[in-house]
Amino acid sequence: MREGLTRVGVYERSLPVSGERVWENVHDWEHLPWLHAGSFAAIDLVDSGDWGWRAHIGLHGGGRILLELVIEDDAPRYVSRTVEGPGAGSEIWTDVDARGDDETAVRVEFWLPGVAAEAADALGAMYVKLYTQLWDEDESMMTDRARELSAKRSASETPRASAPATVSLGRLSDLRPQLPLSVRFGGRGFRVVEHDGRLVAYSAVCPHLLGPLGDAPVEEGRVVCPWHGYTFDIETGRECSGRRLKLPPPPRVLVDPENEQVYLDAKLDAKFGG
Ligand code: FES
Ligand SMILES: [Fe+2]
Repeated sequence: MREGLTRVGVYERSLPVSGERVWENVHDWEHLPWLHAGSFAAIDLVDSGDWGWRAHIGLHGGGRILLELVIEDDAPRYVSRTVEGPGAGSEIWTDVDARGDDETAVRVEFWLPGVAAEAADALGAMYVKLYTQLWDEDESMMTDRARELSAKRSASETPRASAPATVSLGRLSDLRPQLPLSVRFGGRGFRVVEHDGRLVAYSAVCPHLLGPLGDAPVEEGRVVCPWHGYTFDIETGRECSGRRLKLPPPPRVLVDPENEQVYLDAKLDAKFGG
């Protein structure tokens, strides 16, 4: 029992990732309005540290809450408390049980203030539905990141295979209808698009936490990462808000004027040099 609060529901789930991925996700306040765009509209961080984080969170429809997420290392558990705004006083307790590299179980309890007995079940069902959705989204991010991390690890452990200096993508007229095209080059994923009348390749993996850029739309020469909203100029690789992050250098896309054959070329694009 927690004083003045009623437990309206419990949600349990086993995640196919390590505890390290789950705790990283718990500390990652920045993903809320991006990965969980259907549930949260904005976030403004107030404070963060090893203890957790505190932030103002904008809700769809104009509401705003102050949320505090506190980690209890010895449990191990974290508690999210709504400090101000709609639902103030509610607490969500999440126990984290790391069972191995590919398994972590979470148990989430929803504790609310001032709940009439007859309303508890409906509120509990609402929370379980919301948290199923949030954990679905978190699980897809964590498994994608675990896969990219292990691909990165094995690439650094394997002696660099003699990657071809150029790869043909076929005739321009055949390629155009396939754009945007996902390609592998030198063991890494890229996307080829047409921008300002030129073919451009850019990394399909975000340099922040290895988020997927391969399906993100390109608008005005910029691609926005779906995990935390960092935005990159596909021509220069630079992050558009001035963060010191850059897309990995892509191959150049060359078109042979003689025969319209399109090639990926390993030589670094000069724009990525600086
Ligand atoms: S992984 Fe964080 S912005 Fe791309
Ligand atoms: Fe999340």
